Amino acid sequence: MDKLKEHKVIILSGATGYVGFQVLVELVKRGYKVFCVGRNLEDKRFLQQSGVNFFDLDLTSGNLKLDELKKKIPNAFAVISCLGSRKGEIKDSWNIEYTANKNLLNFAQKIKCNKFILLSAICVQKPRLCFQKAKLAFEKELKASNLEYSIVRPTAYFKSLAGQIKNVKDGKSFVVFDSGLNTACKPISREDLAVFICNCLTTQEMQCKVLPIGGPGPAITPLDQARILFEKAQLPTRITKIPSFLFLLFSYFLTPFCIFSNKLADYREFLRIAHYYATESMLVWNSEENKYSDRDTPEFGQDLLDNFYEHTLRKTDKNDYGVDTKLF
Ligand SMILES: NC(=O)c1ccc[n+]([C@@H]2O[C@H](COP(=O)([O-])OP(=O)(O)OC[C@H]3O[C@@H](n4cnc5c(N)ncnc54)[C@H](OP(=O)(O)O)[C@@H]3O)[C@@H](O)[C@H]2O)c1
Repeated sequence: MDKLKEHKVIILSGATGYVGFQVLVELVKRGYKVFCVGRNLEDKRFLQQSGVNFFDLDLTSGNLKLDELKKKIPNAFAVISCLGSRKGEIKDSWNIEYTANKNLLNFAQKIKCNKFILLSAICVQKPRLCFQKAKLAFEKELKASNLEYSIVRPTAYFKSLAGQIKNVKDGKSFVVFDSGLNTACKPISREDLAVFICNCLTTQEMQCKVLPIGGPGPAITPLDQARILFEKAQLPTRITKIPSFLFLLFSYFLTPFCIFSNKLADYREFLRIAHYYATESMLVWNSEENKYSDRDTPEFGQDLLDNFYEHTLRKTDKNDYGVDTKLF
């Protein structure tokens, strides 16, 4: 394939996901030819995008036949990975965040593609959970490879702060953990994030960098989220406070039983994930000041959570709220 055409080809994984699909839309808008790899690619939304090809592939396979794959997928300018474990189960985390990304990296090297853009997460800076450890293990491999890389570590997505819209609309109270002031984030829309990710393709300053990124500031706490949501819903603010240590308490209680059951071990991991998000901010950690820093967390884009809440509240179909979790 001649170099000019190759320059326009991008291999994308995770295109069926929340951010991955938006990245696909942005790539098409910019005139790239996109080659999606992974599962569930028969999704109708793809058929509407021009210049998009699909290749069904078990990315988690331990013995992916890269030579056969090379015959079917063209050389490319870059690989973009927007993969993510759907629920954060222990085995799935390692399969997706590590093995699937490692397979993609091996393939990128095989076809001599020299750019790899990884969608990671800001929370890996304080890794305690399985999925964070698996993400970090792959980040390490990527940095040690001979490829140009950009590791994008976003703060919270809008969908992760949408879990309580339905409750508020139904007249219920907004649940916060502890005081509701102990954590903060700079939420980013998937549209803004997709632009940021695609900018990594062509912006020199974004090469071989780890890029923490948030949406427009300032950082907001769960109590701020509640205030915005009730204001947009034109309802009186009602808050319920729950102690975050309950998650830990239940997880400690489950610990001895986890030896006998993977299902219980996964359930315990969900409790640990919930405790993590209830107690850690999604901002850059300033190790000199020993605290999360609004100031140190870079901002990108224009979309505001206020408008997202307003838009979502107007929807009549509550299944269409784009919710990630019911907890936050
Ligand atoms: N939620 C947040 O606030 C947040 C914040 C910062 C960073 N992140 C990170 O951002 C990344 C993308 O998040 P997202 O919300 O866009 O993810 P998502 O909607 O859950 O999509 C995940 C993608 O990975 C694919 N995938 C999952 N398991 C797979 C498997 N076993 N085999 C093949 N493909 C598989 C999914 O394919 P299927 O459609 O086939 O399942 C989908 O395309 C994740 O790594 C996440 O950790 C999230």
